[in-house]
Amino acid sequence: MDYVTFGRTGLNVSVMGLGCGGPSRIGQSADKGDANSIAIVRTALDAGINFFDTAEAYRTETLVGQALQGVDRDSFVISTKKSYRSEISPALVRQGLEESLKRLQMDYVDIYNLHGVGPQDYPMLRDEILPTFFQLRDEGKIRFIGVSEMFNEDKEHQMMVDSFPDDVWDVAMIGFNILNQTARTQVFPGTIKQNIAVQIMFAVRRALSQPDKLREAVQQLVDAGQVDPAEFDAADPLGFVLAESDATSIVDAAYRFCRYEPGVHVVLSGTGNPAHLQSNIDSLCKPPLPDGVVQKLRHLFRNASAVTGQ
Ligand SMILES: NC(=O)c1ccc[n+]([C@@H]2O[C@H](COP(=O)([O-])OP(=O)(O)OC[C@H]3O[C@@H](n4cnc5c(N)ncnc54)[C@H](OP(=O)(O)O)[C@@H]3O)[C@@H](O)[C@H]2O)c1
Repeated sequence: MDYVTFGRTGLNVSVMGLGCGGPSRIGQSADKGDANSIAIVRTALDAGINFFDTAEAYRTETLVGQALQGVDRDSFVISTKKSYRSEISPALVRQGLEESLKRLQMDYVDIYNLHGVGPQDYPMLRDEILPTFFQLRDEGKIRFIGVSEMFNEDKEHQMMVDSFPDDVWDVAMIGFNILNQTARTQVFPGTIKQNIAVQIMFAVRRALSQPDKLREAVQQLVDAGQVDPAEFDAADPLGFVLAESDATSIVDAAYRFCRYEPGVHVVLSGTGNPAHLQSNIDSLCKPPLPDGVVQKLRHLFRNASAVTGQ
């Protein structure tokens, strides 16, 4: 496994983080059983992954906590999140963190995130809720303050753009992939300037792991006038990537495309499948795709913002 310094946190983290939410929720969404989920976390740890992302909303904190029991607390980084959409207040933040800590069986979290923040809610969260996050940091219950975007609704990262002047985040979870590269201009210049640590979600998701979903997503971009159909083979839009590189699959290419994007620190990978976990670890430790392929992907999707790869 390769490691990087995680922006202004100074943490030394693996370039691959295990995402314990997403469509798979470490196998919980497919009812693969708790033992399988715990084994996914342990296998990741044994492979050198030291970054684990979960959230109260994923209902995987308990399993992550069980899997990490007995492991030296200084040797891994836990990121979890507070939901706010149904109800939020300073008291609910404190209560939410206490409940997360109990489920994780830990006495602090490394990164505590506001979960899925939309631009419409950012000013209220900054003024009414973030002061409690700062207090919790001062009390040592959280080490760093993070945010995750609501990428499916905020496909061009308006929340991040709005928040840059306040410089409040230590860590940001950003949607970025081959099909939506808008973070390159909208987000990464700002995070690089403020040395905000960046973790990537949606690197693969469904559109880059399922050929029929890929065709659908590309058709959506054609319909939106954001890609030129003359530049694609509609039946196999990313076929050239496999033909012109050593990538073993579109998933392999998609993770590598994200890992080497300037401004990216950690790429999250979410799976409940042990074979997928191993191949994703291999992918994220491989060298970059050939520059010609990367440039072609940048060119083809330069105006694409209508899809997230969901
Ligand atoms: N707003 C938010 O806060 C937010 C939103 C989304 C995600 N997240 C976080 O980001 C993490 C990553 O999310 P993501 O879902 O976007 O992850 P991802 O790694 O881009 O995609 C995961 C999907 O790809 C499939 N997959 C993974 N490896 C594969 C392989 N080698 N071959 C074929 N299919 C493969 C998984 O299914 P299998 O189980 O079958 O492998 C799953 O359906 C989440 O776990 C969560 O921690 C946060």
